[in-house]
Amino acid sequence: MTAPLLAVSGLHAHYGPSHVLQGIDLAVPAGGVVALLGRNGAGKSTTLKAIMGVVRPSAGSVAFAGQAIAGEATDRVARRGIAWVPETRAIFPSLSVEEHLTLAARRGGWGLDRIYDRFPRLRERRRSGGGTLSGGEQQMLTIARAMTTAPRLLLLDEPTEGLAPLIVEEIEAMLRSLKAEGMALLLVEQNLAFALAFADHVVLIGKGRVRWSGPPADFHGAAEAQAWLAV
Ligand SMILES: Nc1ncnc2c1ncn2[C@@H]1O[C@H](COP(=O)(O)OP(=O)(O)O)[C@@H](O)[C@H]1O
Ligand SMILES: [Mg+2]
Repeated sequence: MTAPLLAVSGLHAHYGPSHVLQGIDLAVPAGGVVALLGRNGAGKSTTLKAIMGVVRPSAGSVAFAGQAIAGEATDRVARRGIAWVPETRAIFPSLSVEEHLTLAARRGGWGLDRIYDRFPRLRERRRSGGGTLSGGEQQMLTIARAMTTAPRLLLLDEPTEGLAPLIVEEIEAMLRSLKAEGMALLLVEQNLAFALAFADHVVLIGKGRVRWSGPPADFHGAAEAQAWLAV
């Protein structure tokens, strides 16, 4: 058994007095795709933030490539090779598309040609300010920017949320090609059908704890998983 690329163990996090993560365990193997599911407010985004050091874990461990990283600053976690595509997309209104794609770029990351071939829309919009982009263009840009940093693991927080069907297809195609290239992904996803078809492994959280974890094929037969996902 080789150690997973990312191993989260007994992770706790608080917002003030509110105990939001109460012992999350999950692992992402190199090249693996893990879907993180759960109702609104379950703690999915906080789990990604705690991995990234945006939220400081109050207990537990996060190991990346065999190194303990819990409590490290976000930029240091990013330099280790974890890229985060947040729900909010974090686009700068006054920077152009191309500026976003060059600012964080690192050796070995995707170059402009590769990005523009993958997302021709970004090529058309390369001189446009971030503030003028549609939601779908912003999401493409956020994922593309992550790929300029040469990550070994990509954390994606509801990347298709609120987007038009054609854009959703484009984002899902991008995720499929990343998977085919061997990129490790931890994906928070509301679209259950896509998550189950795409992921190798599912982790379902509810009220800050893992309520079910297993292969996608077992999900529909697992009564506790259904119960914790039902709205
Ligand atoms: N900045 C914050 N301050 C206080 N509570 C928060 C904050 N962000 C999230 N929460 C709360 O923490 C819980 C988990 O939130 P979140 O991780 O965003 O859930 P999910 O992504 O699964 O919808 C929710 O109850 C939410 O209201
Ligand atoms: Mg969320």
